[in-house]
Amino acid sequence: MPGIFDLLVTGCHLATMAGGPRCGELRDGAIAITGGRIAWVGPQRDLARDTRAVRTLDAAGGWITPGLIDCHTHLVYAGNRSSEFEARLSGESYASIARAGGGINATVGAVRQATTENLVAQSRPRLAAFAAEGVTTVEIKSGYGLDTANERKLLTAARSLAGECGVDVRTTLLAAHALPREFADRRAAYVDLACREMIPALAKERLADAVDAFCETIAFTPDETRRVFAAARSAGLAVKLHADQLSDTGGAALAAEFGALSADHLEYANDAGIAAMARAGTVAVLLPGAFYALRETRVPPIAAMRAHGVPMAVATDCNPGTSPVSSLLLMLNMASTLFGLTPAEALAGATCHAARALGLADRGALAAGMRADVVLWDIAEPAELSYRIGGNPCAGIVRDGAVVRWRSA
Ligand code: NIG
Ligand code: FE
Repeated sequence: MPGIFDLLVTGCHLATMAGGPRCGELRDGAIAITGGRIAWVGPQRDLARDTRAVRTLDAAGGWITPGLIDCHTHLVYAGNRSSEFEARLSGESYASIARAGGGINATVGAVRQATTENLVAQSRPRLAAFAAEGVTTVEIKSGYGLDTANERKLLTAARSLAGECGVDVRTTLLAAHALPREFADRRAAYVDLACREMIPALAKERLADAVDAFCETIAFTPDETRRVFAAARSAGLAVKLHADQLSDTGGAALAAEFGALSADHLEYANDAGIAAMARAGTVAVLLPGAFYALRETRVPPIAAMRAHGVPMAVATDCNPGTSPVSSLLLMLNMASTLFGLTPAEALAGATCHAARALGLADRGALAAGMRADVVLWDIAEPAELSYRIGGNPCAGIVRDGAVVRWRSA
């Protein structure tokens, strides 16, 4: 063990998520951090008597997990769609609202009116809510601009929020989210614009870490999605897919065909698609908030995912239409109550598997060498993170090795 650590946390139990049963749990442990990385994790009794640290924090018997990771959000947007919520409650469907020009295109109208500063100001409280619950990495998609300048505005707003909040933000370009109104009846021209201009330009400006598409009857066809993915590949960007949310369009298999990092939603995914995802190493991202808000009844094929060994991530899908959610902890609960995940699976879904869904190998588990994103919880067992509905047991946060807050310290 090295001489002096930057930070030593003692008196904790750890859900390491680094393999092994029950969240890789380690009771009566300690964790040491140096240079923004985890330097050592182990039983506290194994700490050498002369171990020293610049700063030592006592966890007072709480549980430590890796920083939570929300791997699917659309949290930068303007306005809200509560009127569509009311319309759905009186019998309209998400698809009929979208076909009538509402839905995603309603938010596109609000985003195009907003300045970058407006977007940052409206989105800041949402990101702050995530951060307060121990989320240390968030993926944010564009997709409410639907032209080059407005997609750039969304991605720029996401990057600038990251700078001010300290949460690590990964950005995803979602140009193929909906057909913008000005391209109605000119589908191919819009896909051309996305492939020939938006993806290459925004990739070159390094504003996007990945490319996503909405493959659905009310959005883009599998062939259009293939074109978008080919453009992403040429621009050197990884891909992800909104797949099989409302119908089986073969989205899971399509995502696998392109070696996607993840296929998300998947309520209607078929068994062959899940098997293809397993072979390709594509993560299934489960979004129980959208399932709940749309009052869907078709549950994603969890048993097939388990049988094929597809890693399952859990995310908020934070967006103004189908998932106005800013609590990843609530999604852990819903993943268990609505989809039947065990609490350990749900926690893996917001840590190690979420990291993989973003292609990030340096986080999501507590192990030597990993990024030092560490959260302290006032809970007696890890299962409490998905058992409780509401409330926030987060008692301390260390982000990238820096103490953001810690009980009374
Ligand atoms: O993930 N499915 C497509 N996109 C979002 C919905 C966006 C919206 O309705 O504004 C989703 O559910
Ligand atoms: Fe989404």
